Amino acid sequence: MKNFKQQVDQRRTFAIISHPDAGKTTMTEKLLYFGGAIRDAGTVKGKKTGKFATSDWMEIEKQRGISVTSSVMQFQYDDKHINILDTPGHEDFSEDTYRTLMAVDAAVMMVDSAKGIEPQTIKLFEVCRMRGIPIFTFMNKLDRQGLEPFELLENLEEVLGVEPYAMNWPIGMGKEFEGIIDRFNGRIEKARVEGEERFIPLDENGEPTTHDPMMDSSYFTQAMDTVELLDEAGNEFDEERIANGQLTPVFFGSALTNFGVQTFLETFLQFAPPPQPRALKEDGEISPYEEEFSGFIFKIQANMDPRHRDRIAFVRIVSGMFERGMTVNVPRLDKSIKLAQTTQFLADDRETVNTALPGDIIGLYDTGNFQIGDTVIGGKRKFEFAPLPQFTPELFVKVSAKNVMKSKQFHKGIMQLVQEGAIQYYKTLYTEEVMLGAVGQLQFEVFEHRMKNEYNVDVQMQPIGSKVTRWIENEEDVTDKMTGPRSMLVKDRYDQLVFLFENEFALRWFQDKHPDIRLYSLL
Ligand code: G4P
Repeated sequence: MKNFKQQVDQRRTFAIISHPDAGKTTMTEKLLYFGGAIRDAGTVKGKKTGKFATSDWMEIEKQRGISVTSSVMQFQYDDKHINILDTPGHEDFSEDTYRTLMAVDAAVMMVDSAKGIEPQTIKLFEVCRMRGIPIFTFMNKLDRQGLEPFELLENLEEVLGVEPYAMNWPIGMGKEFEGIIDRFNGRIEKARVEGEERFIPLDENGEPTTHDPMMDSSYFTQAMDTVELLDEAGNEFDEERIANGQLTPVFFGSALTNFGVQTFLETFLQFAPPPQPRALKEDGEISPYEEEFSGFIFKIQANMDPRHRDRIAFVRIVSGMFERGMTVNVPRLDKSIKLAQTTQFLADDRETVNTALPGDIIGLYDTGNFQIGDTVIGGKRKFEFAPLPQFTPELFVKVSAKNVMKSKQFHKGIMQLVQEGAIQYYKTLYTEEVMLGAVGQLQFEVFEHRMKNEYNVDVQMQPIGSKVTRWIENEEDVTDKMTGPRSMLVKDRYDQLVFLFENEFALRWFQDKHPDIRLYSLL
């Protein structure tokens, strides 16, 4: 039996971030397939086939054919115990997507090599960068003609400001894609193999140990020359800089044709960190090896089973061993709660979990006790983890109850959903009309759906579109005369003043006119 520390060290908890359609789902499927968690790569999300394997919990998911839930997938590979946290993209992009990144120790960034870095990837990358976690890049779809590999590396530097280290280099692309020169493992991996060996080792001078007809092509010579150039003049491989996210190892490959995925997985697992310590609200941190169980709630999913009005609080375990039936204290509530019902999340089912370790994610059935950001502790000690950041919303609606008689339930529902972190609450200055803010459109739809189903209130929402949101350091110097046709002033749920600008241009115009007003945005 392995000891506790060894078991913790075998855990790897990460998320895959990407812009929609870059290949996140395909990659996830391939990884689960290698881990033996699914039989056919193709069961995670059947967007077009209408299969819903990971989660069909919410009605809204079925209606729209998307996965709202950022589910957790677990599998074993070699001696590693892997947790992949799904970060929803597409229209289901929401604050949950960002918050999921608070619960991982590393991120894999999928880039469509025909498109380079796209907008949603930038936002997700910024959250990872803020946390200083390692980011591994997979340049996907090499089986298609894309941008030049050098252009893709430049793109990483220019758009994201992160230095790349090419772990491998492609030989040709699209129809001429022959494979990769795997710098890190010192071998060539061939894309087209019929019965023969897939790998050709390189000798100490970087030359292939056997000849292959593919080596007669100009693409091969070009790729070899480039690798030589990279060895001489490229960024150096530096584990420490990878660990803190300053240098990103870049892998070229194709998730769909399953090329380079296994090599990627194996290399990634070598460098992705085991569960990391977590900072406390006050000074200090909690090490994963501490005996006492602790964790924090990064997501609350309501109504997973429409027959029961249950909620599930997702806990990232920070330290100690979780055991079913244990009692935890929640410092915010100053209360002890027995955790009788817990679930762990697998590729296509929810399973009851009896024990879990740092790095793992467990779901706690909740009847309304927990809030996002809560700390749960197994013993008697009282401490709280550093709070999760609040994210700057970009979309706003005004909202009211269709039936004024329902205003009590309306306010109760809103307040509970706001506490849960499902949506952000704002109000207009004098008329105190309720406004909601979100980072993704789906948050409004989920809100509407849940108000109806859980609080029995039909709401009407009036979109006021996307805004550039800024808080104010020196609120006392602000007057409502400062607003104009392209800006408005509202209050957030803590009664802080917030400017909503029509666009970046309106923001700059304001700053020019009122240079003494110090504006800031959240993450
Ligand atoms: P996402 O989760 O990041 O949104 O992307 P997803 O994996 O769903 O992939 C988006 C599309 O890109 C899919 O095609 C998928 O088959 C394709 N794709 C993923 N990896 C590769 C690759 O390495 N090479 C090529 N050529 N295509 C790739 P689709 O037709 O839009 O959807 P589907 O019908 O396959 O679901």
